[in-house]
Amino acid sequence: MKSPLSSSAIGQLFQDAHTAHAFKPRAISDQDIQQLYDTMKWGPTAFNASPARFVFVRSQEAKARLIPALSPGNVPQVQAASVTVIVAHDTTFYEHLPRLFPAYDAKPIYANNAAAAEDAAFRNGTLQGAYLILAARALGFDCGPMSGFDAQKVNAEFFPDGRVRANFLLNIGEADPAGIYPRNDRMAFHEAAQIL
Ligand SMILES: Cc1cc2nc3c(=O)[nH]c(=O)nc-3n(C[C@H](O)[C@H](O)[C@H](O)COP(=O)(O)O)c2cc1C
Repeated sequence: MKSPLSSSAIGQLFQDAHTAHAFKPRAISDQDIQQLYDTMKWGPTAFNASPARFVFVRSQEAKARLIPALSPGNVPQVQAASVTVIVAHDTTFYEHLPRLFPAYDAKPIYANNAAAAEDAAFRNGTLQGAYLILAARALGFDCGPMSGFDAQKVNAEFFPDGRVRANFLLNIGEADPAGIYPRNDRMAFHEAAQIL
């Protein structure tokens, strides 16, 4: 076992980290984005399949393609964020399994079962989106995940070949304190968990 992180590091990832709904103007570099990806990518996925695909929507031109798909309340958040990530997953991720998991031939499990492939792509892609939130927080960024958008519109605009599907959006940047809402309650241990 390793030593636990410091309480301040754990706080930066969890207790002290808030969802950001507004962002200060702050540029994010290609190197920052590369580092976000290279930190996130080590999180575990089934058969190491890594089905998530990420579109880092940073330019004004690219944001203009995304904005028509957003719920109205999410538009200013995307306009202000340093970058908005489309967290998506490749439903044909299994094509890469021979390279990503050479120890076992798992490709037929999914190649012959579209429902199993979609299930695994969504489950593991969602996990990878959560890893991206924690990677961003670990690297000092604030995050604002969003599901208020029309996925069909995003898919048509960004993934026209139909293989890749949007899951959720993630604003990344430096939070404007005006867009930090009061902390809401969480489910208590006895409500959400049991020890058997
Ligand atoms: C998957 C997901 C979708 C969300 N969708 C939206 C959204 O569309 N718009 C929005 O303003 N906030 C959205 N939120 C923000 C949540 O309401 C927020 O993360 C939650 O209330 C916890 O807030 P806290 O981190 O400040 O405690 C979303 C969060 C998640 C994880």
